[in-house]
Amino acid sequence: MAINKIETFTTELNLISNVDIRNWVSACVAIIPDYIFEIPASSTGKYHPVWSLGKEGLVRHIKAVTHLIPRFSRQYSLDALHESIATAAAILHDSLKYGFDFDYRYHKLHPYLPREFFKDVPFSFDMAIREKILVAIESHMGNVDGAWCYLPYVKPNVSRTQMVVHLADYTAADPNYVPTMFRDVNTGEFERTVYNMNPQELTNILDMYLAFDMTLHPGTMPPDARAILLPRVLKAANVAEAFAIAKAQVERLRG
Ligand SMILES: [Fe+2]
Ligand SMILES: [Fe+2]
Repeated sequence: MAINKIETFTTELNLISNVDIRNWVSACVAIIPDYIFEIPASSTGKYHPVWSLGKEGLVRHIKAVTHLIPRFSRQYSLDALHESIATAAAILHDSLKYGFDFDYRYHKLHPYLPREFFKDVPFSFDMAIREKILVAIESHMGNVDGAWCYLPYVKPNVSRTQMVVHLADYTAADPNYVPTMFRDVNTGEFERTVYNMNPQELTNILDMYLAFDMTLHPGTMPPDARAILLPRVLKAANVAEAFAIAKAQVERLRG
């Protein structure tokens, strides 16, 4: 079934008040790789709260980051244009989290991929605005002085727009942060599918991993790999474990 990518982010796109920027981001969202709409926000589960794990966890993470933008924009006194720029960056910041076609090796570089990936998407605003969006995407990892970042980028002299995007992403990744939009309105509980690993979800993770491995190393898995690995992956307690088991077992099978 085809994913309706723009529909997935309609609410967030509508937070962009500048129409030209909104149109450009919509066109970008339309070509975000399919896997982004399926995967958890974190493959290890280490740096993200539970509601952003599991199927579609990354979509929930992107939504949470985007909905924090108005609040941080107010705190940093961004004008309407710069709030639109920050919102655009928030929607697109993890859109190539594992590269163009789901390759974990790209994770460290993911903030720098949107510049290339969206370069042919036409835009009808000033070149400088596009640059501000891309730079805000590129500075979303690490901390403000460049520590714990693979490629130090964010420095104390970053713009307020960059700071807003950076802090929104950082806040949404806080394991203690829970956006109310992921709770059931009546019970106050999380939707069960958000955090409960069920066999189907674990099976999906294995299938996703095998498909990903096949694009990297075609023809190296035995035909019964799925049958061999499934019982092991089904023992995982959470998505992080399922990924780790799938990865380790696939590598072991390849020998
Ligand atoms: Fe990211
Ligand atoms: Fe993120």
